[in-house]
Amino acid sequence: MADPKPLAGKIILVTGAAQGIGATISNYIAARGASLSLGDVQKDKLDAEAQRLSQAYPDIQVATWSLDVTDPKAVEGWVIGSKAKFGKIDGCVNNAGILGDGSRITEMSFENWSNVMNVNLTGTFNCLKFQLRAIEDGGSVVNMSSCAGIHSVPVLAAYTASKHGVVGLTKVAAAEHAHRGVRVNAVCPGIVAGGLQKNLFREVPNLTMNDLSALFQELVPMNQVAAMVGYLLGDESKFITRAVLPVDGGF
Ligand SMILES: NC(=O)c1ccc[n+]([C@@H]2O[C@H](COP(=O)([O-])OP(=O)(O)OC[C@H]3O[C@@H](n4cnc5c(N)ncnc54)[C@H](O)[C@@H]3O)[C@@H](O)[C@H]2O)c1
Repeated sequence: MADPKPLAGKIILVTGAAQGIGATISNYIAARGASLSLGDVQKDKLDAEAQRLSQAYPDIQVATWSLDVTDPKAVEGWVIGSKAKFGKIDGCVNNAGILGDGSRITEMSFENWSNVMNVNLTGTFNCLKFQLRAIEDGGSVVNMSSCAGIHSVPVLAAYTASKHGVVGLTKVAAAEHAHRGVRVNAVCPGIVAGGLQKNLFREVPNLTMNDLSALFQELVPMNQVAAMVGYLLGDESKFITRAVLPVDGGF
């Protein structure tokens, strides 16, 4: 029979855990026995989420941090503080991300470009820098990329470039830490039901289904993404590293 708590005893850090995919991942891995250190810019929402998890899964511990992944000092404090609190770090999920404004490259503001690159790409770099110093040998890191990290998505150049960058960072981090048995993988969801893309059509009045045709045919259930992340964090995936894994229903 399959182990109902395959992540029991593990300490796992998750960014962007206050809502959406990050909250679903936190719930999925908490249900499988991992204790969590959660970080997000939305601290109140994160605390409410943590309280819900603690009630639902009394066998685990949940800590929360007010965390902006673009601030290296804050990320360092979160990683060091989590290790001090729990005694070790077994896994990390770098999930915090923003979509930015939808516009074609010719109309894209420099501000939008740098905001998206800062949160999605530099934020992931900041997390990796401190997590890879602190994680146990044999640990597992999962970076949240996107189908936009593999394919081109019209009107989302900054997002697409940032998520391609996350794939590149993942491959280098995996190569640099393979000798310690630390695995680093990227997950690339298709368009997820209820996720951050929900305002896109409202924000880009000229966007037509023609621009996005054949791309967004079916929404991916969040739990499918969480299940892939949970698998990568566990010991069943011990021989999987430097992988870029679509969860997109064929996209
Ligand atoms: N929704 C989708 O269809 C989809 C598809 C592919 C990939 N993704 C990726 O999945 C991840 C989660 O997306 P989602 O749909 O759940 O989005 P969401 O907007 O619902 O949640 C993102 C979370 O990240 C937090 N966050 C944002 N900026 C932050 C920062 N600077 N520091 C710390 N936390 C920050 C937000 O407060 C929020 O809790 C993102 O990386 C996104 O790019 C989403």
